[in-house]
Amino acid sequence: MALYEKPPMDKLIEDLKILKEKVYKGGGEEKINFQHGKGKLSARERLNQLFDEGTFNEILTFATTRATEFGLDKNRFYGDGVIAGWGKIDGRQVFAYAQDFTVLGGSLGETHANKIVRAYELAIKVGAPVIGINDSGGARIQEGALSLEGYGAVFKMNVMASGVIPQITIMAGPAAGGAVYSPALTDFLIMIKGDAYYMFVTGPEITKVSIGEEVSYQDLGGAIVHATKSGVVHFVAENEQDAINITKRLLSYLPSNNMEEPPYVDTGDPADRAVQSAESIVPTDSVKPFDIRELIYNIVDNSEFLEVHKLWAQNITVGFGRINGNVVGIVANNSAYYGGAIDIDAADKAARFIRFCDAFNIPLISLVDTPGYVPGTDQEYKGIIRHGAKMLYAFSEATVPKITVIVRRSYGGAHIAMSIKSLGADLVYAWPSAEIAVTGPEGAVRILYRREIQSAQNPEELLKQKIAEYKKLFANPYWAAEKGLIDDVIEPKDTRKVIARGLEMLRNKREFRYPKKHGNIPL
Ligand code: HXC
Repeated sequence: MALYEKPPMDKLIEDLKILKEKVYKGGGEEKINFQHGKGKLSARERLNQLFDEGTFNEILTFATTRATEFGLDKNRFYGDGVIAGWGKIDGRQVFAYAQDFTVLGGSLGETHANKIVRAYELAIKVGAPVIGINDSGGARIQEGALSLEGYGAVFKMNVMASGVIPQITIMAGPAAGGAVYSPALTDFLIMIKGDAYYMFVTGPEITKVSIGEEVSYQDLGGAIVHATKSGVVHFVAENEQDAINITKRLLSYLPSNNMEEPPYVDTGDPADRAVQSAESIVPTDSVKPFDIRELIYNIVDNSEFLEVHKLWAQNITVGFGRINGNVVGIVANNSAYYGGAIDIDAADKAARFIRFCDAFNIPLISLVDTPGYVPGTDQEYKGIIRHGAKMLYAFSEATVPKITVIVRRSYGGAHIAMSIKSLGADLVYAWPSAEIAVTGPEGAVRILYRREIQSAQNPEELLKQKIAEYKKLFANPYWAAEKGLIDDVIEPKDTRKVIARGLEMLRNKREFRYPKKHGNIPL
């Protein structure tokens, strides 16, 4: 009699179903309930919400750890704490992985890392975005240096994929130590608000022991802190469902890879639509602040604008919209915050956004109203020279269509940093309210006429007179337009129309760069 007789197919299928049931339970019912108790969804529930119904396909379903140390040989789980695969989101192919906190705290060991890497390899080959849903205790302690090696492999894939396919992370749990760096290497980080979600390099306990600073988990690494102070987080989600909704909305503006155009949508908003409210939104008095987002909402199709980094460095506004159905990336100074001056954070924010758009064939629109870079020791000591240079680098490097509209002030280095002709802007327009000069009137006059003002009988009178002369010359767009620096001075209401027509003309733009390994952007 044979020692082993292969069972019939119906029995094999029955066994498979039992095993699959086990796979789907992850760390078990009790742990899933515990996860729910914290207000969190399980990894499978998250993937179900993310993908179009019934479209998800799993890879390496049964893979599990090879480690045996610390009882892992008796405590192994199919899937190894991460679910990876592909499916459809709004009909488009997307890869995703979701860490399963119910299995060994979602910790990352060798096999767990391999699954993420495999998903990335396939995604890069077929040119599809990757969404990572992170919920993990970090490197799996039992697997020692193999876990760290695993992280290295994931980081490497993040970098290999950068600029090839869009990468989005949903921060749906804790992330501590080096585990924070995969999310940081992706293009966009969406973080959920609440006590169960936090990320930091060093947690509150070690912070207290090492430097004596007492801080809560949320104050150190909650969603609000990272969205307002560190700039690590691009979007704050109110809850898990909101995070999924933001992900889908973001994807709707992005091509699947760097060889594709971003998705066109017939929005029904006429390209030539006059922006009647433009004039009243932007005060001609250049010191009066206003919120540039009001203008953006009126320019883009159907007022739909997805703002990136909404709560960080608000003196510059960046985000995605459509004009005549085509996706654009908008970079705009916002005088409602610090008068629209550019500081270190604003420069970092803008430069990163510009480079993303350029990598993924998204045309760039600049709306300019800035008095310059922020002065003072704080900014100089922190390196505004180094950081400010990033905008110059990013706009110069970008080969996508670039259209600039100067709506009000455009001074000094910041004028250049917002994209001008010599930096490679394809079209530059100005409103009649534009002021374009090396520096603001009073500063300029005090430098040009220092001696005359000092020796004048009435210095105040002379100062006023010289300021008036300077303003007459430069506090308008015509001096620059006469020199050929502006393509046209336009009525505010025509802003959308000129952008739409410019984009249409630039649709087949080709611009090449010298071959090189990579540039050296000032970091
Ligand atoms: C192995 C881990 C684990 C880890 C959690 N678990 N983190 N197992 N390796 N890193 C397990 C726990 O033992 C527990 O198992 C289960 O996951 C749930 O964990 P709890 O502690 O009960 O959950 P909670 O109270 O919600 O706390 C979550 C946590 C905590 C804050 C994340 O687990 C924690 O501090 N973990 C360690 C974090 C850490 O130091 N990670 C290494 C970071 S350094 P049972 O069986 O009881 O359910 C790092 C380096 C990366 O990641 C380097 C890249 C270069």
